This record gives sequence, structure tokens and C-alpha cells, in this order.
Amino acid sequence: MVYKKGIKKDKKLSIKKGKKTVQTLRGMKDVLAKDWFYYDLILNNAKKIFEFYNFQRIETPILEKAELFEKGVGEKTDVIEKEMYILKAKENKELLALRPEGTASIVRSYIEKGMFNLTQPVKFYYFGPFFRHEKPQAGRYRQFYQLGAEMIGGGDVVADAEIILLSKLFLENLGFSKKNIFLLINSIGCPNCRPLYIKELKKYYKKLDKQICSDCRRRIKENPLRVLDCKNEKCSLVKQGAPPILDYLCPECRDHFKALLELLDYLNIPYILDKTLVRGLDYYTKTVFEFCLENETGRISLGGGGRYDELTETIGGIKKPAVGVAFGVERLMQEMVRQGKKFKPTVPKVFLVQIGEAAQKMSFKILEQFRKEKILLGENLGKENLKSQLKIADRLGVKYVLILGQQEVLDGMIILKDMNSGLQELIPWEKIVSEVKKRLKN
Ligand code: HAM
Repeated sequence: MVYKKGIKKDKKLSIKKGKKTVQTLRGMKDVLAKDWFYYDLILNNAKKIFEFYNFQRIETPILEKAELFEKGVGEKTDVIEKEMYILKAKENKELLALRPEGTASIVRSYIEKGMFNLTQPVKFYYFGPFFRHEKPQAGRYRQFYQLGAEMIGGGDVVADAEIILLSKLFLENLGFSKKNIFLLINSIGCPNCRPLYIKELKKYYKKLDKQICSDCRRRIKENPLRVLDCKNEKCSLVKQGAPPILDYLCPECRDHFKALLELLDYLNIPYILDKTLVRGLDYYTKTVFEFCLENETGRISLGGGGRYDELTETIGGIKKPAVGVAFGVERLMQEMVRQGKKFKPTVPKVFLVQIGEAAQKMSFKILEQFRKEKILLGENLGKENLKSQLKIADRLGVKYVLILGQQEVLDGMIILKDMNSGLQELIPWEKIVSEVKKRLKN
């Protein structure tokens, strides 16, 4: 837990001088209403696209056995080695992990629930929080949301194309245009052809041992492909000269990649071949891709994915080809804000003022009548006097105020005040909703 000393008595922050306050952890944030506006927009957009293509929503637990990700994502990846949050269960000392990504969990669920018996491929989409102990920076958090989609049991190249096409549609519907996003694509082969490539890669890096970072010197021994992920500046130069993996693909992987590129051309999806794109997770086979955006801060990866034909088997199931993608929700949100998509809170046009105990109680009934008719009615039932409630109504800029006092409760009436003209009318309770409705329409 993180404690921070209150710097001074600050009324706005309600921190008392000298008091220790509990704060959010570094790299984690509260998702407030202004954020949910974007999160909802992103999820609803995904629902429209993915559900049309028969993807079904799935939510797996946030906590899983650590070994799921160690096996699935790869023990010698940064995500597992450096970034995964591990907890020890009190009762049996079992190692648990806060899920760093979604693919391994969904494959676990597919196997556990016997979904290989269903019509294949089985298509999923998901939206939820993930955890990685990374250095926090703009668009990079330790708890972040992902919107992802997986297709398990589909080996054909149309599955890769479908995931890429839906990703593109998803981004375009959110307002990202062809002009500012681009698709990077590569193939990293399969267990048949990759060993030969790894041999060549090691040979190439051996000569340049002195020019790479200490992490890469370790990576080339433990998990050679990961050197191509390194963001270190001097390593990037070395990386550019590395042998391209595409030259080492076996006929099956080459045919798959060629067919996919042809299909992308047919679908009018532009792409850039990126010979160093390998992605940071070990489960990928054949296709890997990333949707990126370039702005004044540099290149941002909005989302990425690829094929993972070995993962069901690695996790203990029967071999099923699969492909998927995941987007970083905070990154999408950050770019949406940058591009001027503004959060507009829903403001009521009508406000209910109540004075006295009987009116306060009665207000619940009035509020329910309006809720059933889907008319937003502002209120602050905790306030007692007329002036303070009218002040709130004024701040909200409502068109009408409903006033319910002791006398109105006795008479079964309510005052309807037009805030523009200042005119007031007495209306019976049973007619108030239809009256307001009529006026709002006008
Ligand atoms: P990933 O590239 O590790 O892939 O993550 C996908 C996206 O999540 C990234 O492109 C980025 O936008 C976002 N992201 C990752 N880390 C952070 C962070 N610390 N803060 C904010 N956003 C972040 C996967 O996770 C794979 N499971 C994708 C996949 C699905 N492959 C196949 N199916």
C-alpha cells in the first residue's frame, strides 16, 4: 500500500495537514465518469462490429494460475519475466498472477469448457483490465484495459483476414482514419522453419555482441527472437541489419503469408511489411501484425495480434489453430481526446426541488415516474432549502424546475416552473410526466 504525507490542508483535496493518505498505486488510476464515456464508446463500437461477425463476449477471471501465462506467453519474455504481478495464495502457497494479457486465459477457457466440440472456429471478444508492472508513461499503465478478439479453431487465411478487417473497421468507426493509422505485418514462421532462422539470427548477433545492450546479450542466448523487440536505440540499428525472417519461411508458412497479403489487397487494406516485427509474446506463429499511429510524440501501437497455432497444445489441449488481436483502451482514448472527441456529460433538462420531509419522501415516487418514461430528472434529495436546490438547477441550466412542498403534497399537486419565462403552474401529480414530456418536445 502506498502512503503519502498530506502536504498542506487543502480544502479541495480534503487532506488534513500532516495526515497520511492512501493513494492509488503508481501506474494505476480511477476510471471516472469522463473516462467511462470513452470506454463505453469503445466497447459499444466493438460490440456492433464483432457481434455482427458472430463473436461472443467472454470475461475470464483477473486472477489465474501463474503457470498459465508462464507456459502460454513464455517464461523468457519481458511480460512474464519483468512485468507480471505474482501473488502467493495464503492457504496453499500457490503462485497466482494478475492476468497480463487475455489470449492465454481464453485458450484455457476454450480447453476447459470443451469448446473444441462446438462448430469451429469459436469466436470471442473481451473488454477488461489487465496488469503489467511497466514503467508508467503516457498511454502506458500498470492497470490498463484491453479490447480483444480471438478466433480459435480457424487455420485458414480468411481467419487472419477477418481479424485484421474487423480491427480496421473498429478503428475507423472510432474516428481513426486511413490517413493516421497504419498496419505493420510480418510472418514469424512456425516450429518447423523458425529454428533455422534462429540459427542465422544468433550468427548475425554474435558478430555484433559489443554493439547491443546487456538485455539483448542475454536474450540472444535465452530467447533469441526477442532481440528484435528491443527498443534500445543502439540495438535498433543492429536490428535493421538482421536477416529477414521472411527469407527463412517453410513453403506452408510462405504460402499462408502470400495468400493473406493477396486477401488484404483484395479487401483494400493497406499494409507495411515490417521484417523486424515479432511481437513480445512467445505464442505467435506465422502472421503477426500491429496497428500503429504516428503523432508528435512518436509511434504508438494502438493494438496488435497474430496467429498462435501452437498455444492450445502448449496449454494442454488438442492442437487448434487460432488468431486474435487486442487494443489498448487507454491508448485509443488518449488519441481520441487528442483528435478532439469530447466527453459530453448527460445533463437533465428538468430538476426536482423538494421542501420538507413529506415532499422528500414523495420525491422517490416522482423520480420513478420520470425514470420509467426515460426522462432524466435532476435532484439533490439531501438538500433541504429551496435556495440551495434552485442554485444547483441554475448551474445545470435546466429548462424546467418541479417544486414539491408541504402544501403540494397535501393537494396532490406539483409546481412546474419555466426557468426562461419564470412562469409557474400547478399540475396534478398524475399529469406531470406527460406535461413535461409535451413541453420538452416543443
Ligand atoms: P500486446 O501487444 O501485448 O498484445 O497488447 C495489446 C495492446 O495493449 C498494445 O498494442 C497496447 O495498445 C496495449 N497495452 C499493452 N501494454 C499496455 C500498458 N502497459 N498500458 C496501456 N496499454 C497497454 C497482447 O496482449 C495479445 N494478447 C494480443 C493478442 C490477442 N494476440 C492474439 N490475440
